[in-house]
Amino acid sequence: MSIKKKLGSIVISLAMISIFSCVNLDAGAVQKNSERELALIDKLHEIADPSLSPEQRADLVISKMSLEDRIRIIGGYQRFYIKGFAEYGLRDVEMADATMGLRNHGRVTAFPMAIVMASTWNRDLIFQTGNTVAKECRAKGVDVLLGPGVNIYRVPNNGRNYEYFGEDPYLAAQLSGEYIKGIQDLGIMAVVKHFVADNSDFDRHRMSSDVDERTLNEIYYPAFKNAVQNAGVKSVMTAYNPVNGVSASENTQIIGTLNNKWGFKGIVMADWESVYNAYEPFVAGLDLEMPGPRFFNAKNLIPLLEEGKITEEQLNNKVKRILSTCFSLGIYDRPAVDSNFAAHSDENRAVAMKVAHEGIILLKNKDNILPVTEKVKKIAIVGPRAKNTPSTGFGAGMVTVPEDAKVDFYTGIKAAAGEGVDVRKVGASSKFAREADVVFVCVGFSGWLEMESMDRDWEMPSSHVRTIKRAAKNNPNTVVLITAGGGVETESWINDVAGVVHTFYLGEPRGTAIADIIYGDVNPSGKLPYTMVKRYEDLPASEYYLPEGKKLFRFPRLALNGSKVLRKIWHVEYKEGIYLGYRHHDTFNVAPQFEFGFGLSYTTFDIKNAKLSATEISGDQSITVTVDVTNTGDRAGSEVVQLYVADKESSLDRPAQELKNFEKVFLEPGETKSVTMTISKDALSYFDPAVDSWVAESGEFEIRLGNSSRNISQTLTFNYKK
Ligand code: BGC
Repeated sequence: MSIKKKLGSIVISLAMISIFSCVNLDAGAVQKNSERELALIDKLHEIADPSLSPEQRADLVISKMSLEDRIRIIGGYQRFYIKGFAEYGLRDVEMADATMGLRNHGRVTAFPMAIVMASTWNRDLIFQTGNTVAKECRAKGVDVLLGPGVNIYRVPNNGRNYEYFGEDPYLAAQLSGEYIKGIQDLGIMAVVKHFVADNSDFDRHRMSSDVDERTLNEIYYPAFKNAVQNAGVKSVMTAYNPVNGVSASENTQIIGTLNNKWGFKGIVMADWESVYNAYEPFVAGLDLEMPGPRFFNAKNLIPLLEEGKITEEQLNNKVKRILSTCFSLGIYDRPAVDSNFAAHSDENRAVAMKVAHEGIILLKNKDNILPVTEKVKKIAIVGPRAKNTPSTGFGAGMVTVPEDAKVDFYTGIKAAAGEGVDVRKVGASSKFAREADVVFVCVGFSGWLEMESMDRDWEMPSSHVRTIKRAAKNNPNTVVLITAGGGVETESWINDVAGVVHTFYLGEPRGTAIADIIYGDVNPSGKLPYTMVKRYEDLPASEYYLPEGKKLFRFPRLALNGSKVLRKIWHVEYKEGIYLGYRHHDTFNVAPQFEFGFGLSYTTFDIKNAKLSATEISGDQSITVTVDVTNTGDRAGSEVVQLYVADKESSLDRPAQELKNFEKVFLEPGETKSVTMTISKDALSYFDPAVDSWVAESGEFEIRLGNSSRNISQTLTFNYKK
């Protein structure tokens, strides 16, 4: 990286630290006192009997609330609260970020990033993860978790890819849906975000994502729609970015789809400082402005009411959505802190460890350089991410690892190596690195380079690439450990090294988890939730990502928050449409470096004997696929059977194949399990903008089964009749 660039990123990072630390100081600002809260609950129960429905109870409270209080509750409070009102028995309701655990709440478990959760392809584990985060919320008195983020991975540059679930709408929907169910299972409100097409953090208040209706429906909406219709999410946060030229918080196209087409009844809340005036968001359907009542306040709204531009019914409807949603989760009927739950318990940390174990991806393993055997007596650890290995990107998603729980890659590997193995942190050209049995090169990004509010380069810092090359030149047994929230350039060095492990950001488990994988105590089973391209130009969105003249690393325009006048919106057209990631690579025959769904294991698997329950289905009938998976190697391990659907003939162009189901199975050596997966009409449909709905056409469909999008071992066909 040039000195100029480095200085630029330091300045940005310092600015970001100051911005985020303002936020930090505010968290936990409202004191919780269970005796006072119990008295409030009594008061509330006098007004709104708990045996009534959440909606009836909300109506009863609203009938007592003054106009000013009804206006006051739809604007945030103390940056992270829904304001409470003692006279109606309502306590303050606290919110906290986010998917990877509780930010700013002291000793909590720092989970691996959401992108690692996606790489596990394990629904049960991600339900358990959400459930564990919810336990920590209950322990800390947080009622609303500001996650999960489900924005689709469009380009590797997005500074927040690590907070999301990858490029595929089905995978993202399935795993985030489980996470949401896990959270809400314990009465904590999940907030699915950022609605919608928030796929870059560059100049995020002004960069409009211009996306056509088919692409919105097939690629960018599904994880949100699934959250609403299948996972029952209670709140949706609108994005910073305008969508098709209109700010998300006041966008009738997208909020209308959410409320009217999908039937969402919960809280539509704005992202922090992303409301730019009062009237438009109010009528578009925004229920809650955050983090404070900058526009949704009496000064703005009372004149609008008096002029008849907005109605009291509209106001009451927003209050009703806020109150009834909280009632439905029991929030106002319990004190905030519940001592029956613990944060950072061994049990909670074990879940974080399992996510790390199952999410780490082994990308290259020439001549089985991994796992490290007992023959290895000298290990050189090289590179800037070996010590103080970053646990997270920077921003609203970050959770601090408690000081005494910090284990970086060097420390973790050294501890696992034990007595009799010489493990040293050395330079790539040192004596020691040349003679070592294995060299681990720890490189990649960190929170300073990959963060909210800006985008990052595709290439890792050039000095890191030089370190890889130097290490590989001096020692053929070089294994690269990549720290990054998404794809990076690998083509310039991949053939020089023996092994590559994608470690992402692993939260608290980082050093221990990586050592478990390297030593083979855990067999890797993570699979890529996005395509890693060979060349940046191979990315379908590379041409349309930033218009000419726009450069990365410009100072984030936070100063323009809230000011409509200063916000000159500019446009990014999503011209690649539905051909994103493997949909592009597989349809137009572009070879990836590592394909979507790819990840190696220390054992081998066979996927065979695939059968369909029928050769023809019609209408709403579904079809069942069974397939046998055998562990043909000599180590226990997990495999992900991936099911792709190909439409053989269709009126509109469609991708060559699309992921429509998957199942992860654990197998002992020699063991076979039969996997059953179901496909319904939805999985055969495309969105037809001409009729504004999903359409499944009659004809032949192919079911393709494999352990990656490009390693298909079984293909079956059937007919669908309308
Ligand atoms: C982020 C949100 C986050 C909010 C509150 C915003 O900057 O975009 O994801 O939930 O801050 O911290």
